[in-house]
Amino acid sequence: MRAGAHTLHASLPLEALFSAPWGVVVLISCWSVKGGSGTTVVSVALALFLARSSPDGALLVDLAGDAPAVLGLPDPTGPCTADWLAEPDATPEALRRLEIDAGHALSLLPWGASTDHSIASDGERLLDALNGSRPVVVDCGSRLAGAALTVAASASVSLLVLRPCYLALRRALAAPVCASGVILVQERDRVLGRRDIEDVLGIPVRAEVPWDASVARMVDAGLLATRVPRVLERAMRAAA
Ligand SMILES: Nc1ncnc2c1ncn2[C@@H]1O[C@H](COP(=O)(O)OP(=O)(O)O)[C@@H](O)[C@H]1O
Ligand SMILES: [Mg+2]
Repeated sequence: MRAGAHTLHASLPLEALFSAPWGVVVLISCWSVKGGSGTTVVSVALALFLARSSPDGALLVDLAGDAPAVLGLPDPTGPCTADWLAEPDATPEALRRLEIDAGHALSLLPWGASTDHSIASDGERLLDALNGSRPVVVDCGSRLAGAALTVAASASVSLLVLRPCYLALRRALAAPVCASGVILVQERDRVLGRRDIEDVLGIPVRAEVPWDASVARMVDAGLLATRVPRVLERAMRAAA
C-alpha cells in the first residue's frame, strides 16, 4: 500500500480525539477493495456510535450510495453531495443545507447519483467544507477514485474494511491508499485470521466484526439504526 498522510491519529481512541479539551475533531474514512465487504454497514454503525458519544452528534458522508437504504431512509429526491461536488464554486454552507436528519443525533449527506465524475481536488474542497465540531465518517466505497480517493487518503483515520479472503488481501496490498487500520469482517472457519492480516499489511486490525445473520436481517429490514445488533455495537466500541 502507498504511504498516506493520516498516521497522526492512527493509534489514539477516536472518542479521545473528539472529547479532548483542545477540541480535535476526527474524520474517519471507511473503504474497501471489494464490493460486498460490509463497508457501508461499518460506516453507518460507526457513525451511529460516534453520534451517541459526541456532544454535537456526528455526520455520515455517503460517497458510495447505499447509506440512506441502510439507515432505513427513502432515497433523496433533491440535490445531493454529488451535485455539490460537481459545482466547483459551491460553498460549505450549501453543503450543510444538503444534510438530512437521520435521527439518533446523526446527520447524513447522501450521495444521490448513479455515477461519480468527481476529481481529486473535489475531495480537497469537500474535506475543507467538512471542517467542524462533529466527528465525521465518510463511506468511500470500494472504487477509490476522484473525491473518494482523496478523502480515503487524507482522513485522520483511514479504515480498510476487509473480509479475510486471499483475493481481497492481494488487492489491499495494491491499494492506492495506505490505511491506518483494518476493520476485519470475520466469517467463521476462515483460514486467514487477525494476525495474518496484520503481518501481511503491516497495520493493526482495529476491530473484528463478526459476519452474523442478525446484522444482515436488520439491514434488510431497514432497521439497523434503531436496533444495532449487539455484535456490531461491541465491534464499534473496539474500533472507536
Ligand atoms: N457483519 C455482517 N454480518 C452479516 N451481513 C453483513 C455484515 N456486514 C454487511 N452485511 C451484509 O452484506 C451486504 C453488503 O454489505 P455492505 O455494507 O453494503 O458492503 P459494501 O458497502 O462493502 O459493498 C449487505 O446485504 C449487508 O446486509
Ligand atoms: Mg457500500
